[in-house]
Parts: sequence; structure tokens; C-alpha cells
Amino acid sequence: MKLTMIQTDVLILGSGIGGLSTAIHLALQRPDLNITVLTKTQEGESNTRYAQGGVAAVWNEEVDSYQKHKEDTLDAGDGLCDEQIVEIVVQEGPERVREIIDWGARFDKTQAQQYDLGREGGHSENRILHYKDLTGWEMQRALMSKAATLPNIKVLEHYFAVDIITQHHLGYMVTRLMPNIECYGAYALNKQTGEIEKLLAKVTVVATGGAGQIYRATTNPVIASGDGIAMVYRAKGWVENMEFVQFHPTALYNPAGENPVFLVSEAVRGYGGILKNRQGEEFMHKYDPRKSLAPRDIVARAIDNEMKLSGDECMFLDCRHLDAEGFRAHFPTIYDKCLSIGVNPMQDMIPVVPACHYMCGGIKVDALGRSNIKQLYACGECTSTGLHGANRLASNSLLEAMVFAKRIADDILPNIDHLSIRQGIPDWDARGTTDPKEMVLITQSLKELKEIMSSYVGIVRSNVRLKRALDRLWILHQETEDLYNTTTLSPQLCELRNLISIAYLVTRSATMRRESRGLHYTTDYPERLGFVQVSLL
Ligand code: FAD
Ligand code: SIN
Repeated sequence: MKLTMIQTDVLILGSGIGGLSTAIHLALQRPDLNITVLTKTQEGESNTRYAQGGVAAVWNEEVDSYQKHKEDTLDAGDGLCDEQIVEIVVQEGPERVREIIDWGARFDKTQAQQYDLGREGGHSENRILHYKDLTGWEMQRALMSKAATLPNIKVLEHYFAVDIITQHHLGYMVTRLMPNIECYGAYALNKQTGEIEKLLAKVTVVATGGAGQIYRATTNPVIASGDGIAMVYRAKGWVENMEFVQFHPTALYNPAGENPVFLVSEAVRGYGGILKNRQGEEFMHKYDPRKSLAPRDIVARAIDNEMKLSGDECMFLDCRHLDAEGFRAHFPTIYDKCLSIGVNPMQDMIPVVPACHYMCGGIKVDALGRSNIKQLYACGECTSTGLHGANRLASNSLLEAMVFAKRIADDILPNIDHLSIRQGIPDWDARGTTDPKEMVLITQSLKELKEIMSSYVGIVRSNVRLKRALDRLWILHQETEDLYNTTTLSPQLCELRNLISIAYLVTRSATMRRESRGLHYTTDYPERLGFVQVSLL
């Protein structure tokens, strides 16, 4: 039986801010191109949708400047940012924000009708545009509405991209050091039919987001399983900086357990919330003069340390001194969520714990979003552009995705008419596989994976913990590959396989970095040395 094949000019994997912004830029400039966006659940489900704090951009040049935003980004990145990329993002950012406003996104304004600029950790000025504590929801909404007005964008929901297609699928040997690997599209599981379809494209853009689900406690939704990074790594693409996993200092501590855990935005600290211990004593002054508004790596480590010293299961964010009406207006979702677990932020301190939040490393791309594989671009959280270095500055992620989406579109458009769709790509070969008999083989391995990463590759690392993690991940890898080779593909199995790859990349990169820097802290090498990026070539 011949399986379904789709041909398109541009194939975009992911419908978050990276994927949809790229699609819109392409479609606006070239209404004659076919742009196909795949997304593995509904179009609106993404990390983007959950962003709270906002988007950082130099807005009021009377008090702020590109130089200050640049310095804050470099300072947070702890010596590993690419200065040229920081300059690009900081300078092009405000224009991209104006564009998304033109496309319909709303940001809060003051009574004087000026944008109400918030503050977050590591920022020397108020420069965060936000929509209440639902900024990502609003941006996702605006992008989906805009994309829906452009008839040459087709969004295919419930399509799970499984593998990037390269010469490997034509029977050639492909190695990571080959200069001429080419991408011809992707195989994807149509979740409604169960069929693996072949999607062929002149150009493919990976915008599949982060990978927080490798940990037990994460602010990332369950779609964040690192599929794009894992697919590109399997296709012999270059991946770097994976040891820099950002833990957000203040996820809501909920003893009932939730996946994802609920975020208490850093903007709450920007608004005046103060970190305290159970006794109501401040502790951040012991770690950094910026106290509760120090960059995230410092605050998350401080909370982790205070929890270890005291034996408590959480620390607290004290907002009781803040104006109640203002708090409720700025943070309605956070306020309601706290109430739902019996915490009134105006009367009780909010219990908080660090949780995995953001992947600073990923697919290595250049200033135009190009990976080392020809005709394969990447955009958003799945990338390592050089902006974040060893630690991302708060609210720089949405900005980065918007800036790179435009750059990718501008690089694709002059070249696309010279490219063609590769013919002769074989159908997906599912011979020798049968339907899974026991889902427990997948669900239990996923639990084990999260335990391994949370216990051994968390905020504080050591050689012995990393070695244990690698040994255990190897067993999980072998078991899962056996399952993959004999079982009909399911989204759950693909995600498990991808998560194991991501966990391996994080742990291996952490093992290779013999120093402590930014988000990577190891008790065996507590000093910061002169090391540069760890690339897993
Ligand atoms: P996503 O928005 O995650 O989109 C990924 C898309 O890819 C999804 O549509 C997904 O379904 C799809 N996908 C994934 N795998 C596959 C596959 N195999 N096949 C098909 N489709 C696939 N950043 C800020 O700058 N400011 C903030 O205030 C902020 N707050 C945050 C709060 C929370 C709770 C979280 C989780 C993150 C926050 N971030 C914030 C980070 C920011 O939201 C993300 O980094 C950014 O939205 C990522 O966008 P993206 O387009 O790269 O990925
Ligand atoms: C937050 O609102 O604290 C998240 C901001 C970010 O991740 O950039």
C-alpha cells in the first residue's frame, strides 16, 4: 500500500512563537508559497502559551538603552554569550515587538497609555512588556489569529514529527562531520490515522520548543519533550550547551504534585515580592547584592541551598506587604491558583520551589537560524543561537524566537525558488513491528528517567552523580531502542526515546564541562575556568 505523501515549499515543525512567527513572515512576503505547519497536539498548546512575565525589549530610550539590555544579557550569560548575537537580538527586538502588536497582540498600558514595563531578575531597567500574567497566552492567540488570515499557511494538528529526512533515508552513510548533509522534509505520525506520512519540503524549520519533561518538576507542558533537538541530533546535526538547563526559582510548591508545576512569575519579585524562609527571614542578601532580583541561576541555587540547610520542602515568596488590588490586577492567574490550593497571597507567604524551566542549549544555528544541515533551519527554544550563553536572562526567550523567525524567513525567501523537492524518498518502513502489548514498559521508563535526572543532574551536580546518571540512562536507552525496533510507533514511545536522548545530551555535556559556570554547578569543579561551548559533534 502506498502511504500518504505531502509536498510543500516550507515545512515548519511546531506552532509556538518560533514556528508561527516564521510562517507568518514567509506568508506575508510570498503569498504564492505553500507553508505547512505541523503540530503534535492542538495548535495552541506550546511553551509559548504558558509564558507569564513577558517579553524584554528596550522601549523607553529616555531611561533604557540597547547597551544596558546587552550588558544585562551578557552578565546573566556568564561569559558564554555570543556578543554579536546579543547585539542583533537586542537591537532588532523592539521592531519585532511592534510587529506582533500590529498583528493584534495586546500588552498592558498605564493610565497614561504608556506600556506598563515590568522588571525581572538580572534586568537593570524596567523593560518587560506583558499582558497581565498571561503574556504567552495572548501572544499565541495573536499569532494564531494572524496565521489564520493567511491562506497559504496550512496548520496540521495532531501530526507528530518522528524523523528528519536526509541522505541517510536514501541509503547513504551520514556522519556528523559531513559538510553536505541535506534535509528533504520529515516523517510524521498522523495521530488520527496512525499512519506515518512523508512530508517533503524544499526547506524545513524545526521549532519544536524545549525539553523540561526530562525532570520530575517542570513548568513546561507535557509537549516539551525535546523532539526537535533529538531528531536533529539523530540526523547528525550539531547540538551544543545542553548542560545549561535553567531552573526557575519560584514554581508553586503544591504537595499534591502536578505536571507541569505552576509558575509564580519572576515579575512578582519585580513587583516587590521578597524571598524568605519558613521563619519569615530574608536570605538572598547572603548570595547576591541584588537579593530576590539576582539572575535566575543564583536565586535557584540559593533556594536549593536554603532548602538543604533547613530540611524544608520549600521556601516562600512574601507578597503580604504589597497593594492587594494592584497585585490582583497584575497577577490574576497566580492569585487564583494560589487561592485554589489554600494560599491567600495577601495573607500567607507563597510556598515556592525551583523547577526545570528552560533549555539554554540546543540545535546549533548561525545568525540566520541555519543548522549545519542544508535546508534545515531551527528557531526558538530548541536552538542554541549564542544569545543565552550559560544562563538566559528572563524574558529574552520570546524575543529571541521573534527575531530569529524574521531572520530565517529573510534567508529562505531569496533562495527558495532555486530549490526543488527531492524525489525518490522511500515510505516509512514499519516492517517487523507489532502493536505494543504493555504500555507500562513506556510509562515506567519515563518515571525512571525523570527520577534519574532530578536526583543526579539537577541544580547541583558532581562527577559521581553524573556517572550514575549516565550508567542508568544507558540501560534505559537500550531497553527503549529494543522497544522502538519491534513496536508500532506511538507518540508516547517517540517522546520517551527523545527524552532519553535529551537526558543523555544534558548529562554528557555536564560531564564534559569541568568547571562551574552559569546554570552548571558541580561540587567537583566549583570554580569558573576559561572553557568555551561544549559541542556534541
Ligand atoms: P513552543 O512554544 O514550546 O512550541 C513548540 C511547538 O512544537 C508546539 O506547538 C509543539 O506542539 C510542537 N512540537 C513539539 N514537538 C513536536 C513534534 N514531534 N511534532 C510536531 N510538533 C511538535 N519566555 C519569555 O521570554 N518570557 C516569559 O515570560 C516566559 N515565561 C515562561 C513561563 C512558562 C511557564 C514557560 C514554560 C516558559 C516561559 N518562557 C518565557 C519561555 C518561553 O515561553 C519559551 O521558551 C518559548 O515560548 C518557546 O517557543 P517555541 O516556539 O520555541 O516553542
Ligand atoms: C517568568 O515569568 O518568571 C518567566 C519569565 C521567563 O522565563 O523568561
